[in-house]
Amino acid sequence: MLVGFKLNGRKVELDVEPRTTLADSLRGDLGLTGTHIGCEHGVCGMCTVLVNGTTARSCLLFTCQLEGAEVVTIEGMGREDNLHPLQQAFHDHYALQCGFCTPAFVLSAYELLSTHPSLEGVDLPAEMSGIICRCTGYSSILAAIKDFAEAHPEGPPPPANLS
Ligand code: FES
Ligand code: FES
Repeated sequence: MLVGFKLNGRKVELDVEPRTTLADSLRGDLGLTGTHIGCEHGVCGMCTVLVNGTTARSCLLFTCQLEGAEVVTIEGMGREDNLHPLQQAFHDHYALQCGFCTPAFVLSAYELLSTHPSLEGVDLPAEMSGIICRCTGYSSILAAIKDFAEAHPEGPPPPANLS
């Protein structure tokens, strides 16, 4: 099936099998390996991306469902030489160990902070509980998100690496 969508600000067109997942298309067809795959059945959250501004598990989406959508992956958030401020907050807090969960946490935090910039009334551990960090780095991850919210009461700036 032919499918066209925007990926990190750039139009892409793919010819995929109906059963191909977005996670496999991103990693296999498009070479964007920042989207990680863990359980492949919607439990671990590793494969989280933004679809039309909302977090989605790319292992549970078929690529053919993405026609006309806007998809942002961790590669769209920033570059090594131009990190998004939320990535910088994770860096500053050492909020990663192996880093396998980091793209998913950054994108999930981005969505949360976009709708709740001050985190007022937000049960942050509960909100982030959909992503499993096997290194158990939760406290520094939550600290990075909290500090970011204090420093950016207006909410996070848009992704920094859209073409
Ligand atoms: S790989 Fe998608 S939720 Fe685990
Ligand atoms: S830092 Fe290793 S899985 Fe979270």
